Amino acid sequence: MKDNIALIGFMGSGKTTIGRLLAKALDMKYIDIDREIERIEKRPVTEIYKEKGEDYFKDLERKIIAEESLENNIVISTGGDSIIDNKNIKSLKETSFVVYLNCSIGCIYERVKDKTHRPLLNVDNLYETIVELYDKRRILYEISCDFIVDIDADTNMYDTVDKIKQKYILS
Ligand code: S3P
Repeated sequence: MKDNIALIGFMGSGKTTIGRLLAKALDMKYIDIDREIERIEKRPVTEIYKEKGEDYFKDLERKIIAEESLENNIVISTGGDSIIDNKNIKSLKETSFVVYLNCSIGCIYERVKDKTHRPLLNVDNLYETIVELYDKRRILYEISCDFIVDIDADTNMYDTVDKIKQKYILS
């Protein structure tokens, strides 16, 4: 069994909610990489993107993922596009059981449509943008994980937590 659990998946797939519950269920610490970046930078992700650019954000994300991966007994919730950088996957896989929250597009759309804190989703053609981004990323999520859990609008989050918990314990 690896020391940690890392959750990967598209924006709005439930990494934060599931991550918190999972950490509680397994008596582990919870860390959200985006919130950690915001804490260090003392400003929200949208502002970091606007003022310092995506590359700056990505550099910081890579550094924090590498650092947090060295901890143990933590559930790590990652930003939706962290899987694009191979170094992040390498860091995570060394110490974490990597779980892909495979949330349906319809469910993602419903969850993110009224939120404004994600720079890439502040667009007019939201549904098309989600489909386009998800099509590009899906394969990366799939090949980066140790376990896939499917989620849609009817999925009970406690069932999801339980599935991940069982799989992790048996891993
Ligand atoms: C991003 C996801 C966000 C955040 C940033 C970029 C993405 O995190 O890292 O806005 O491109 O998928 P969440 O997946 O936690 O929303």
